[in-house]
Amino acid sequence: MTDPTPPLPGRPGPDLSVTIAGVLFRNPVIAASGTFGYGREYAGLLDIARLGGICTKGLTLNPRPGNGGQRLHETPAGLMNSIGLENPGIPAFIEHELPALRSLGPAVIANLSGSTAEEYAEGAALLNHAAIDMIELNISCPNVKAGGMAFGLEAEAAALVTGRVRGAAPDKPLMVKLSPNAPDLAAVARACVKSGADALSLVNTFKAMAIDTRLRRPVFDNTSAGLSGPAVRPIALRMVWELWEALRPPGAPRPPVPIVGMGGIANAEDALEFLLAGAAAVQVGSATFANPCAMTEIIDGIALYMAEHGFRRCDKLAIREPGGVS
Ligand SMILES: Cc1cc2nc3c(=O)[nH]c(=O)nc-3n(C[C@H](O)[C@H](O)[C@H](O)COP(=O)(O)O)c2cc1C
Repeated sequence: MTDPTPPLPGRPGPDLSVTIAGVLFRNPVIAASGTFGYGREYAGLLDIARLGGICTKGLTLNPRPGNGGQRLHETPAGLMNSIGLENPGIPAFIEHELPALRSLGPAVIANLSGSTAEEYAEGAALLNHAAIDMIELNISCPNVKAGGMAFGLEAEAAALVTGRVRGAAPDKPLMVKLSPNAPDLAAVARACVKSGADALSLVNTFKAMAIDTRLRRPVFDNTSAGLSGPAVRPIALRMVWELWEALRPPGAPRPPVPIVGMGGIANAEDALEFLLAGAAAVQVGSATFANPCAMTEIIDGIALYMAEHGFRRCDKLAIREPGGVS
Protein backbone atom coordinates (compact mmCIF):
# COMPACT_ATOMS: atom_id res chain seq x y z
CA MET A 1 0.00 0.00 0.00
CA THR A 2 1.44 3.41 -0.90
CA ASP A 3 1.71 6.27 1.54
CA PRO A 4 -0.89 8.86 0.44
CA THR A 5 1.06 11.71 2.01
CA PRO A 6 4.59 11.36 0.62
CA PRO A 7 7.03 14.00 1.81
CA LEU A 8 7.62 16.95 -0.49
CA PRO A 9 10.93 16.71 -2.36
CA GLY A 10 13.74 17.85 -0.07
CA ARG A 11 11.45 18.01 2.98
CA PRO A 12 10.89 15.10 5.35
CA GLY A 13 7.24 14.18 5.92
CA PRO A 14 5.66 14.52 9.35
CA ASP A 15 7.01 12.10 11.94
CA LEU A 16 4.03 10.21 13.35
CA SER A 17 6.06 8.07 15.74
CA VAL A 18 5.44 8.28 19.47
CA THR A 19 7.27 6.72 22.39
CA ILE A 20 5.11 5.56 25.29
CA ALA A 21 6.76 4.16 28.40
CA GLY A 22 9.89 3.46 26.37
CA VAL A 23 8.03 1.61 23.60
CA LEU A 24 8.30 3.07 20.09
CA PHE A 25 5.08 3.13 18.07
CA ARG A 26 5.44 4.03 14.38
CA ASN A 27 2.28 6.14 14.71
CA PRO A 28 -0.21 6.87 17.51
CA VAL A 29 -3.00 4.56 16.28
CA ILE A 30 -3.45 1.31 18.19
CA ALA A 31 -6.08 -1.39 17.76
CA ALA A 32 -8.14 -1.52 20.98
CA SER A 33 -8.42 -4.67 23.04
CA GLY A 34 -11.22 -7.05 22.16
CA THR A 35 -11.91 -5.52 18.77
CA PHE A 36 -9.00 -6.80 16.69
CA GLY A 37 -8.63 -10.41 17.82
CA TYR A 38 -4.96 -11.33 17.72
CA GLY A 39 -4.38 -9.37 14.51
CA ARG A 40 -4.31 -12.15 11.96
CA GLU A 41 -8.14 -12.20 11.80
CA TYR A 42 -7.91 -8.92 9.87
CA ALA A 43 -5.17 -10.02 7.45
CA GLY A 44 -6.24 -9.17 3.90
CA LEU A 45 -8.72 -6.51 5.03
CA LEU A 46 -6.15 -3.80 5.75
CA ASP A 47 -2.39 -3.32 5.75
CA ILE A 48 -1.86 -4.33 9.38
CA ALA A 49 1.85 -3.48 9.29
CA ARG A 50 0.91 0.21 9.06
CA LEU A 51 -0.71 0.27 12.52
CA GLY A 52 1.13 1.74 15.47
CA GLY A 53 0.20 -1.11 17.77
CA ILE A 54 -2.17 -3.97 18.41
CA CYS A 55 -3.72 -4.64 21.78
CA THR A 56 -4.83 -8.24 22.31
CA LYS A 57 -8.19 -9.44 23.51
CA GLY A 58 -8.27 -9.51 27.32
CA LEU A 59 -6.10 -12.41 28.50
CA THR A 60 -6.51 -14.40 31.68
CA LEU A 61 -4.25 -17.02 33.26
CA ASN A 62 -6.63 -19.85 32.36
CA PRO A 63 -8.92 -20.19 29.32
CA ARG A 64 -12.37 -18.60 29.64
CA PRO A 65 -15.44 -19.49 27.55
CA GLY A 66 -16.93 -16.00 27.95
CA ASN A 67 -20.55 -15.13 28.70
CA GLY A 68 -23.60 -17.03 27.50
CA GLY A 69 -26.58 -15.47 25.74
CA GLN A 70 -26.47 -12.49 23.45
CA ARG A 71 -23.08 -10.77 23.41
CA LEU A 72 -23.49 -7.80 21.09
CA HIS A 73 -26.29 -5.27 20.67
CA GLU A 74 -26.25 -2.18 18.48
CA THR A 75 -27.61 1.16 19.64
CA PRO A 76 -28.28 4.15 17.32
CA ALA A 77 -24.72 5.46 17.78
CA GLY A 78 -22.94 2.76 19.68
CA LEU A 79 -22.29 -0.87 20.43
CA MET A 80 -23.03 -2.80 23.60
CA ASN A 81 -21.01 -5.91 24.38
CA SER A 82 -20.98 -8.60 26.99
CA ILE A 83 -18.23 -10.91 25.74
CA GLY A 84 -17.02 -11.83 29.21
CA LEU A 85 -13.31 -12.12 28.38
CA GLU A 86 -13.46 -15.21 26.18
CA ASN A 87 -9.82 -16.15 25.56
CA PRO A 88 -7.57 -19.21 25.30
CA GLY A 89 -5.54 -18.42 28.44
CA ILE A 90 -2.08 -16.84 28.59
CA PRO A 91 0.02 -19.99 28.01
CA ALA A 92 -1.95 -20.86 24.86
CA PHE A 93 -1.79 -17.23 23.69
CA ILE A 94 1.99 -17.22 24.06
CA GLU A 95 2.38 -20.54 22.25
CA HIS A 96 -0.21 -20.29 19.47
CA GLU A 97 -1.06 -16.61 18.86
CA LEU A 98 1.93 -14.49 19.81
CA PRO A 99 4.43 -15.66 17.14
CA ALA A 100 2.06 -14.68 14.30
CA LEU A 101 0.98 -11.46 16.06
CA ARG A 102 4.62 -10.51 16.61
CA SER A 103 5.45 -11.05 12.95
CA LEU A 104 2.79 -8.55 11.79
CA GLY A 105 5.03 -5.58 12.65
CA PRO A 106 3.11 -3.22 14.99
CA ALA A 107 4.00 -2.98 18.68
CA VAL A 108 2.27 -5.74 20.67
CA ILE A 109 0.35 -4.93 23.84
CA ALA A 110 -1.04 -7.78 25.94
CA ASN A 111 -4.30 -6.86 27.67
CA LEU A 112 -4.26 -8.62 31.05
CA SER A 113 -7.31 -9.45 33.12
CA GLY A 114 -8.13 -11.61 36.11
CA SER A 115 -10.59 -12.45 38.86
CA THR A 116 -8.22 -12.02 41.80
CA ALA A 117 -5.01 -10.08 42.42
CA GLU A 118 -3.17 -13.41 42.59
CA GLU A 119 -4.49 -14.46 39.19
CA TYR A 120 -3.47 -11.12 37.67
CA ALA A 121 0.04 -11.50 39.15
CA GLU A 122 0.47 -15.07 37.86
CA GLY A 123 -0.59 -13.99 34.40
CA ALA A 124 1.76 -11.01 34.52
CA ALA A 125 4.67 -13.25 35.51
CA LEU A 126 4.11 -15.33 32.35
CA LEU A 127 3.85 -12.21 30.17
CA ASN A 128 7.05 -10.84 31.70
CA HIS A 129 9.00 -13.48 29.76
CA ALA A 130 6.93 -13.31 26.57
CA ALA A 131 7.79 -11.43 23.37
CA ILE A 132 5.33 -8.59 24.00
CA ASP A 133 6.20 -4.89 24.17
CA MET A 134 3.83 -3.78 26.91
CA ILE A 135 1.15 -4.97 29.31
CA GLU A 136 -2.19 -3.17 29.42
CA LEU A 137 -3.67 -4.00 32.79
CA ASN A 138 -7.43 -4.19 32.40
CA ILE A 139 -9.07 -3.19 35.68
CA SER A 140 -12.12 -1.90 33.85
CA CYS A 141 -14.03 -4.79 32.22
CA PRO A 142 -17.72 -4.34 33.15
CA ASN A 143 -18.74 -7.79 31.88
CA VAL A 144 -17.32 -10.24 34.43
CA LYS A 145 -18.75 -11.11 37.83
CA ALA A 146 -15.41 -11.36 39.68
CA GLY A 147 -12.45 -9.01 39.27
CA GLY A 148 -12.39 -6.87 36.13
CA MET A 149 -13.99 -3.50 36.75
CA ALA A 150 -14.24 -4.14 40.49
CA PHE A 151 -10.50 -3.39 40.73
CA GLY A 152 -10.84 -0.16 38.79
CA LEU A 153 -13.63 1.51 40.72
CA GLU A 154 -11.72 2.69 43.74
CA ALA A 155 -8.15 3.67 44.48
CA GLU A 156 -7.19 1.07 47.07
CA ALA A 157 -8.16 -1.94 44.95
CA ALA A 158 -6.53 -0.39 41.86
CA ALA A 159 -3.31 0.19 43.79
CA LEU A 160 -3.31 -3.39 45.08
CA VAL A 161 -3.59 -5.06 41.68
CA THR A 162 -1.28 -2.56 39.94
CA GLY A 163 1.38 -3.16 42.59
CA ARG A 164 1.04 -6.94 42.28
CA VAL A 165 1.33 -6.86 38.49
CA ARG A 166 4.23 -4.38 38.63
CA GLY A 167 6.09 -6.72 40.97
CA ALA A 168 5.36 -9.81 38.88
CA ALA A 169 6.34 -8.25 35.55
CA PRO A 170 9.28 -5.96 36.36
CA ASP A 171 10.67 -6.06 32.81
CA LYS A 172 7.57 -4.93 30.90
CA PRO A 173 6.20 -1.40 30.56
CA LEU A 174 2.84 -1.28 32.32
CA MET A 175 -0.18 0.68 31.11
CA VAL A 176 -3.29 0.57 33.30
CA LYS A 177 -6.66 0.76 31.55
CA LEU A 178 -9.13 2.81 33.55
CA SER A 179 -12.88 2.57 33.88
CA PRO A 180 -15.16 5.49 33.03
CA ASN A 181 -17.48 4.06 35.67
CA ALA A 182 -15.11 4.98 38.55
CA PRO A 183 -16.71 7.64 40.77
CA ASP A 184 -13.31 9.33 41.30
CA LEU A 185 -11.22 8.58 38.23
CA ALA A 186 -8.33 10.87 39.19
CA ALA A 187 -7.94 9.14 42.56
CA VAL A 188 -7.81 5.72 40.87
CA ALA A 189 -5.31 7.02 38.30
CA ARG A 190 -3.05 8.55 40.95
CA ALA A 191 -3.09 5.27 42.91
CA CYS A 192 -2.07 3.34 39.77
CA VAL A 193 0.80 5.72 39.03
CA LYS A 194 1.98 5.51 42.62
CA SER A 195 1.91 1.71 42.41
CA GLY A 196 4.05 1.55 39.29
CA ALA A 197 1.95 2.31 36.19
CA ASP A 198 4.12 3.68 33.37
CA ALA A 199 1.12 4.84 31.32
CA LEU A 200 -2.66 5.06 31.59
CA SER A 201 -5.33 4.28 29.01
CA LEU A 202 -8.99 5.25 29.03
CA VAL A 203 -11.82 4.66 28.51
CA ASN A 204 -13.07 1.12 28.74
CA THR A 205 -16.78 0.70 28.09
CA PHE A 206 -19.56 2.45 30.02
CA LYS A 207 -21.88 0.20 32.01
CA ALA A 208 -25.20 0.27 30.18
CA MET A 209 -28.39 -1.73 29.67
CA ALA A 210 -30.91 -2.70 27.00
CA ILE A 211 -34.32 -4.39 27.32
CA ASP A 212 -35.93 -6.65 24.73
CA THR A 213 -39.48 -5.26 24.80
CA ARG A 214 -40.84 -8.24 22.87
CA LEU A 215 -39.49 -10.75 25.39
CA ARG A 216 -39.86 -8.29 28.29
CA ARG A 217 -36.43 -9.09 29.68
CA PRO A 218 -32.91 -7.62 29.54
CA VAL A 219 -31.08 -8.29 26.28
CA PHE A 220 -27.98 -9.50 28.12
CA ASP A 221 -27.83 -12.42 30.56
CA ASN A 222 -25.79 -10.22 32.92
CA THR A 223 -28.48 -7.49 32.61
CA SER A 224 -25.85 -4.83 32.00
CA ALA A 225 -23.18 -4.63 29.29
CA GLY A 226 -20.46 -2.24 28.14
CA LEU A 227 -21.29 0.64 25.78
CA SER A 228 -18.70 1.88 23.26
CA GLY A 229 -18.69 3.68 19.91
CA PRO A 230 -19.56 7.24 18.80
CA ALA A 231 -22.16 7.68 21.56
CA VAL A 232 -19.45 7.75 24.23
CA ARG A 233 -16.84 9.83 22.39
CA PRO A 234 -17.53 13.31 23.81
CA ILE A 235 -17.66 11.91 27.34
CA ALA A 236 -14.44 9.91 26.85
CA LEU A 237 -12.74 12.99 25.44
CA ARG A 238 -13.81 15.06 28.44
CA MET A 239 -12.43 12.37 30.76
CA VAL A 240 -9.04 12.32 29.00
CA TRP A 241 -8.90 16.12 29.14
CA GLU A 242 -9.80 16.26 32.83
CA LEU A 243 -7.44 13.44 33.81
CA TRP A 244 -4.54 15.11 31.98
CA GLU A 245 -5.17 18.25 34.04
CA ALA A 246 -5.79 16.42 37.30
CA LEU A 247 -2.52 14.47 37.10
CA ARG A 248 -0.29 17.33 35.98
CA PRO A 249 1.77 18.56 38.94
CA PRO A 250 1.51 22.34 39.48
CA GLY A 251 3.90 24.09 37.09
CA ALA A 252 4.79 20.90 35.19
CA PRO A 253 4.19 20.84 31.43
CA ARG A 254 2.38 17.50 31.47
CA PRO A 255 1.30 14.57 33.66
CA PRO A 256 3.98 12.20 35.02
CA VAL A 257 2.88 9.37 32.72
CA PRO A 258 1.45 9.39 29.18
CA ILE A 259 -2.28 8.96 28.66
CA VAL A 260 -3.64 6.87 25.79
CA GLY A 261 -7.17 7.94 24.83
CA MET A 262 -10.03 6.02 23.31
CA GLY A 263 -13.79 5.85 23.10
CA GLY A 264 -15.78 6.20 19.90
CA ILE A 265 -12.94 7.25 17.62
CA ALA A 266 -14.00 6.55 14.03
CA ASN A 267 -12.06 8.98 11.86
CA ALA A 268 -8.98 11.23 11.88
CA GLU A 269 -10.92 14.23 13.19
CA ASP A 270 -12.03 12.18 16.22
CA ALA A 271 -8.48 10.93 16.84
CA LEU A 272 -7.07 14.45 16.56
CA GLU A 273 -9.47 15.67 19.23
CA PHE A 274 -7.95 13.16 21.68
CA LEU A 275 -4.37 13.96 20.63
CA LEU A 276 -5.03 17.69 21.01
CA ALA A 277 -6.56 17.02 24.43
CA GLY A 278 -3.25 15.57 25.54
CA ALA A 279 -3.43 11.89 24.65
CA ALA A 280 -0.04 10.52 23.59
CA ALA A 281 -1.77 7.97 21.34
CA VAL A 282 -5.25 6.68 20.63
CA GLN A 283 -6.89 3.29 20.46
CA VAL A 284 -9.66 2.47 18.02
CA GLY A 285 -12.17 -0.28 18.76
CA SER A 286 -15.80 -0.39 17.65
CA ALA A 287 -15.13 1.61 14.46
CA THR A 288 -13.15 -1.30 13.02
CA PHE A 289 -16.28 -3.48 13.01
CA ALA A 290 -18.07 -1.06 10.67
CA ASN A 291 -15.00 -0.10 8.65
CA PRO A 292 -12.00 -2.47 8.84
CA CYS A 293 -9.83 0.25 7.25
CA ALA A 294 -10.78 2.90 9.85
CA MET A 295 -7.36 2.80 11.49
CA THR A 296 -5.29 3.18 8.33
CA GLU A 297 -7.61 5.99 7.20
CA ILE A 298 -7.06 7.67 10.58
CA ILE A 299 -3.27 7.37 10.21
CA ASP A 300 -3.47 8.99 6.76
CA GLY A 301 -5.74 11.73 8.08
CA ILE A 302 -3.41 12.57 10.98
CA ALA A 303 -0.45 12.75 8.58
CA LEU A 304 -2.40 15.06 6.29
CA TYR A 305 -3.45 17.31 9.18
CA MET A 306 0.14 17.53 10.41
CA ALA A 307 1.40 18.42 6.94
CA GLU A 308 -1.33 21.04 6.45
CA HIS A 309 -0.85 22.60 9.89
CA GLY A 310 2.94 22.52 9.97
CA PHE A 311 3.44 19.88 12.64
CA ARG A 312 6.65 17.92 12.13
CA ARG A 313 6.19 15.63 15.12
CA CYS A 314 3.08 13.93 16.43
CA ASP A 315 4.04 14.43 20.07
CA LYS A 316 3.72 18.20 19.56
CA LEU A 317 -0.01 18.04 18.85
CA ALA A 318 -1.35 18.57 22.39
CA ILE A 319 -2.83 22.04 22.66
CA ARG A 320 -1.54 22.52 26.19
CA GLU A 321 2.06 21.50 25.38
CA PRO A 322 4.57 24.35 25.31
CA GLY A 323 4.69 25.36 21.65
CA GLY A 324 1.28 23.80 21.01
CA VAL A 325 -1.37 25.47 18.90
CA SER A 326 -2.87 27.64 21.64
C1 LIG B 1 -16.60 -6.41 21.49
C2 LIG B 1 -15.70 -5.68 22.44
C3 LIG B 1 -14.82 -6.41 23.23
C4 LIG B 1 -13.97 -5.76 24.12
N1 LIG B 1 -13.08 -6.48 24.88
C5 LIG B 1 -12.20 -5.84 25.69
C6 LIG B 1 -11.21 -6.56 26.43
O1 LIG B 1 -11.12 -7.79 26.35
N2 LIG B 1 -10.37 -5.86 27.24
C7 LIG B 1 -10.44 -4.49 27.34
O2 LIG B 1 -9.64 -3.88 28.07
N3 LIG B 1 -11.34 -3.77 26.63
C8 LIG B 1 -12.21 -4.41 25.82
N4 LIG B 1 -13.12 -3.69 25.09
C9 LIG B 1 -13.14 -2.22 25.22
C10 LIG B 1 -12.37 -1.52 24.09
O3 LIG B 1 -11.03 -1.92 24.07
C11 LIG B 1 -12.46 0.00 24.24
O4 LIG B 1 -11.92 0.38 25.48
C12 LIG B 1 -13.90 0.52 24.17
O5 LIG B 1 -14.67 -0.24 23.26
C13 LIG B 1 -13.98 2.00 23.78
O6 LIG B 1 -13.42 2.20 22.50
P1 LIG B 1 -14.32 2.24 21.13
O7 LIG B 1 -15.48 3.13 21.40
O8 LIG B 1 -13.37 2.72 20.08
O9 LIG B 1 -14.75 0.82 20.88
C14 LIG B 1 -13.99 -4.34 24.20
C15 LIG B 1 -14.88 -3.61 23.40
C16 LIG B 1 -15.72 -4.26 22.51
C17 LIG B 1 -16.64 -3.44 21.66
